[in-house]
Amino acid sequence: MTYTDHRHVFDVLVIGSGAAGLTVALSVADHAKVAILSKDVLDSGSTRWAQGGIAAVLDNDDSVKAHMQDTMNAGAGLCNYSAVRHTVENGKKAIDWLIEQQVKFSKGEDNDYHLTKEGGHSHRRIIHAADATGAAVSEALVQQAKLHPNISVLEHRMALDLITCEKFNLPGKGVVGAYVYNADADQVETFRARSVVVASGGASKAYLYTSNPDGTSGDGIAMAWRAGCRVANMEFNQFHPTCLYHPQAKSFLITEAVRGEGGHLKLPNGERFMHRFDDRLELAPRDIVARAIDHEMKRLGADCLYLDISHKPKAFILEHFPTIYQRCLEFGIDMSQQPIPVVPAAHYTCGGIVTDQFGRTDVSNLYAVGEAAHTGLHGANRLASNSLLECIVYGQSAAKHILSQLKNAQDIPFAPDWDESQVKDSDEEVVISHNWDELRRFMWDYVGIVRTNKRLLRAKHRVDLLRQEITEFYSNYKVTSDLLELRNLVEVADLIIRCSILRKESRGLHYSLSHPDLLPVAYDTVLTPT
Ligand code: FAD
Ligand code: SIN
Repeated sequence: MTYTDHRHVFDVLVIGSGAAGLTVALSVADHAKVAILSKDVLDSGSTRWAQGGIAAVLDNDDSVKAHMQDTMNAGAGLCNYSAVRHTVENGKKAIDWLIEQQVKFSKGEDNDYHLTKEGGHSHRRIIHAADATGAAVSEALVQQAKLHPNISVLEHRMALDLITCEKFNLPGKGVVGAYVYNADADQVETFRARSVVVASGGASKAYLYTSNPDGTSGDGIAMAWRAGCRVANMEFNQFHPTCLYHPQAKSFLITEAVRGEGGHLKLPNGERFMHRFDDRLELAPRDIVARAIDHEMKRLGADCLYLDISHKPKAFILEHFPTIYQRCLEFGIDMSQQPIPVVPAAHYTCGGIVTDQFGRTDVSNLYAVGEAAHTGLHGANRLASNSLLECIVYGQSAAKHILSQLKNAQDIPFAPDWDESQVKDSDEEVVISHNWDELRRFMWDYVGIVRTNKRLLRAKHRVDLLRQEITEFYSNYKVTSDLLELRNLVEVADLIIRCSILRKESRGLHYSLSHPDLLPVAYDTVLTPT
């Protein structure tokens, strides 16, 4: 083994530049040297695309108790009470911090922050920046990170595996860095750090249709699993009820706030239908609305259903939903005059790397925050707009813990260089693109909104074959971004299928025709690496 790559040594290595990673970085940077990695450009994760907003108790008529109760109702009996309490109690502080970081939230006529409503919320409590909240958060936090003298922001750097003392027989314990593919230089570099934070987002790209941007391939979840961390509740992949249905509109979400502000779901003949599924109509939790749409589409053989807010004044629509209005217009749909065609799509990974209240994982010095983590907040179904809140609250608590540990930190051992002496350039890229498509299609067909035992076993069989093929490919050829993402996607698809097979009931987002009932006692599906 050679140990020559000593260029990148930091106190804290943050893998991911979304809301979660940026919060950790900004919250430790006054006291620590930090690197933030993004496998693409800095705002390429889901954060940039968040529309509706951030849930928090900000109105005098609202209460911590009500927000906690709404979160637990949506979570269908599986939320971790302490995680819910920790998140909701720290909600206002998190929003105040974002305002300090210069996030410009929308204000109402009274000059107070405007709060909107979304499914499952008993109060108006979603603070937002029109219908582009994520862009406002991302721009402000990226700007602050770029200005901070202790933060190095590195784009096109894709972490491919974590370096642990146990795996490489290094002195000490736990994680000491990561191997990182530098796409610009086409080489793998060694990053060493006292603490490593996985903030790499979710895994919804495992599905053919998704609201997520391209990079959500579950890299951090797969890396942490390979490094020895438990992973939990991966069967709970949330499908957002309303993505724009149009052949050229790749992954464009129509925010739940459209329903919160009075939008109606309609069949192709113009009839409303949600009263047949839930008393809360269009504002029932997401799992119920997505299943209702899926049911009606299958019953009618329809390609899509419709979301109609054209009964509201055009000025109201333009004020609240300027981004969506423009985007729909580009496709010839004037939402102030006509209903928007919509379909459900994979949106959010509720499960992930098991963490505690400080984002600590099972491996020493390794933290996980944001969508990659399983804190227990979301249970079997995430309440709308609780995700960005979780990113900030847990980003801050992880930062606190990291700083408390830095004082006693030992020297970081040298880690061996990446060895590619045994591999050559790939001569068959088609294997990668074919396997990408196959995986995402069978996940959609067999592990989607409605599942059965038989479909899950079919999916397991296929994922096992793909995994074999990709492992062989990975062992013989030089790494590329597509190969690394595919390797991770197969890993997370396998985790989703295994958790789905283990759940012998229908709860929250996991709905199985083979087990349609709810078991009396709620349990997490926790997988432990062997
Ligand atoms: P992300 O923002 O996804 O960032 C992940 C980062 O990790 C990226 O920088 C990526 O480049 C990097 N990365 C990934 N893998 C690697 C690797 N191997 N090496 C290096 N870097 C890597 N939630 C709400 O609360 N409110 C909303 O209104 C809302 N609207 C949404 C709308 C859309 C269209 C989508 C897709 C999601 C929405 N969500 C919303 C969910 C929320 O946006 C995400 O859960 C949240 O932004 C995740 O933040 P994150 O920091 O964990 O990850
Ligand atoms: C939306 O705006 O509908 C998305 C909100 C969320 O995913 O929390």
